[in-house]
Amino acid sequence: MKPFRLLGATSFLGAGILAATLAPLAVHAQEAKPSVTAASPDGSIVLTVGTDNDSRPTWSLSRKGKLLIAPSKLGFVLTDGVNMVRGFAISGSEKGTHDDTWQQPWGERTNVRDHYNEVTVHFRQSAAQGSRLMDLHFRLFDNGVGFRYELPEQPAMKTMKIADETTEFAIVPKGEAWWIPGGEWNRYEQVYQKTAIDAVSTAHTPITMKLEDGTHLSFHEAALVDYAGYWFKRADGQTFRTTLSPSSRGARVVRDLPFNTPWRTIRIADNAAGLVENDLELNLNEPNKLGDVSWVKPMRYIGIWWGMIRGDWTWATGPQHGATTARAKQYIDYAARHNFGGVLIEGWNKGWDGDWFGHGDFSFTEATPDFDIKAVTDYARKKGVVLIGHHETGGNIAIYEKQMDAGFALYEKLGVPAVKTGYVADGGGIIADTWRYGEKPGETHMEWHDGQRQVNHHLDVVKLAAQHHIAIDAHEPVKDTGLRRTYPNWVSREGARGMEYNAWGAFANGPDHEPTLVYTRMLSGPMDFTPGVLSLEGAHHDPLASTLAKQLGLYLAIYSPIQMAADFVENLDKHPREMEFISHVPTDWAESHLIAGEVGDYAVFARKDRKRPEWFVGGVNDATARNVTLSFDFLEHGKTYKATIWKDEEGATYLTDARHRIAYDTRTVKKGDTYDLWLAPGGGAAMRLVPVK
Ligand code: NOJ
Ligand code: CA
Repeated sequence: MKPFRLLGATSFLGAGILAATLAPLAVHAQEAKPSVTAASPDGSIVLTVGTDNDSRPTWSLSRKGKLLIAPSKLGFVLTDGVNMVRGFAISGSEKGTHDDTWQQPWGERTNVRDHYNEVTVHFRQSAAQGSRLMDLHFRLFDNGVGFRYELPEQPAMKTMKIADETTEFAIVPKGEAWWIPGGEWNRYEQVYQKTAIDAVSTAHTPITMKLEDGTHLSFHEAALVDYAGYWFKRADGQTFRTTLSPSSRGARVVRDLPFNTPWRTIRIADNAAGLVENDLELNLNEPNKLGDVSWVKPMRYIGIWWGMIRGDWTWATGPQHGATTARAKQYIDYAARHNFGGVLIEGWNKGWDGDWFGHGDFSFTEATPDFDIKAVTDYARKKGVVLIGHHETGGNIAIYEKQMDAGFALYEKLGVPAVKTGYVADGGGIIADTWRYGEKPGETHMEWHDGQRQVNHHLDVVKLAAQHHIAIDAHEPVKDTGLRRTYPNWVSREGARGMEYNAWGAFANGPDHEPTLVYTRMLSGPMDFTPGVLSLEGAHHDPLASTLAKQLGLYLAIYSPIQMAADFVENLDKHPREMEFISHVPTDWAESHLIAGEVGDYAVFARKDRKRPEWFVGGVNDATARNVTLSFDFLEHGKTYKATIWKDEEGATYLTDARHRIAYDTRTVKKGDTYDLWLAPGGGAAMRLVPVK
């Protein structure tokens, strides 16, 4: 269905689906200022846009008749003395509605419904304040809201040098929040904190909240393009505002007009499932710009990786070098035997010897002498396996940008369809050449992982990789804002504490880490978490805060179209029954539902394979043992399935060696049936449901 648009400040939509009023613009001093209201398709979410007594643009939101966001200011602080905060009045508005369903080439579900009412409110500054124009474009969904600034071409302003964006969110009901700090040295790789909303400091998005009345919120952004990522900064009480990631240029964002900012988004739901089964940010991104992306292949993979992370092998050359031709062939053989599509090989190239953290001087085309990349890719091809390439930059994009075309060309020639990139450097430690902003090439500046320069870098990489038919999995990335819709070769990323932390200390990721990720980081998009450490051991036998069944449950809880089994193949080989599950769990789904769960506590998903009529169920638990009754209501009526079940054995707990205890079960199930599942402390479960013919 085509979007329906009405022009004119006082237009109303037919059929009464869009509640809309624009009060008269000519008003007496004592009268209320003009405002514009609009509602979501089912009327539950109502927006009001207006101005405050200082002529600052404001927005507010209510849901089901209750005020959710009190009038909150909108605007920009600029570095060149221009005021984009005060002196504004509404000069008109346009409304529309939209309802269609589009298909994801891969993902958590095939069909995505995009159903909203929208309003664009035009603001004009008084002549005394500079006569500048600024539009606010809102889209109101039944399960969330997105809005962005649209800066039209105008005589009074050609370029905006943005010191900061001052979008406010004055949250009314009290509640609690799950969040990680923004602007810290370790980027997004932090342990999540749970605090009262008014105890949050400066957080990354997505940030998740649960209000006293049970309403669930997630604040984030969509379509972060040629702009800085924002941090969610508490101003006062429960009032937050955007603060943009810094730039070496002083102004955090510099843009020529006309341009649009990314969408500022809020998912709004009655429960945890409503946050998770929510495609708000994807809907706010533009459709696929790459055309046929059948070359982007979801897959399971293994890698020459865990050995380096644990310290048994090295990325650097020498006697412990991980990426040797012989080991690559061993891993390819294992992948071929166990139904894995790919093998990631890190440390294959020159540049790892010595210290590379934060300043890497890598070659992206030259292999080390003990790694014959041609022989390895030829061998893989014969075995029906692909290599997953690796481009670690050490944060030095000045070097990477000069070589990345050659790096992708080499991989394309060798048949490598996916590359994991990496930006290992402290927050603020990206070394960037200034060429991109037309300054003197060759000079370098330090930038943030989520600043405008690095945001642009990531998209340059993804677009260039697409020209070479290569998919990208970025580590130490910028946060995901749904750009996989527009560039479906941006398949996955890290952007949180992954499995690797478990190699570096006992219980380094606590038992509640993954059931928190599901409702926070995962709301932004796929994560290359790298599950499947079946030995349940990091370095020095340090234990994971996980039972064996939880390692399987992670394949359902943490979605990624490229999904790893991270352990050494020798350790995977010790678990033939668990490998029965891992070798068959899909990485591309027709449907996904959160069938049980609470934020930070536990999460159980039911997901339907895209290729076969099979369902997979599973998930993860925090430190508290619990009984969950799962309902098979998601199954198709009249069909019977054989369920194979991997679950925590009685007595299992992440705290002791009993973490290895796993139980197996099979039964026949159909719609209407239920299953009582016990989840151990730090536990999990997985099921495969195959139709009975
Ligand atoms: C950190 C990444 O998260 C990890 O997966 C990778 O192996 C190292 N950097 C080296 O690139
Ligand atoms: Ca990392």
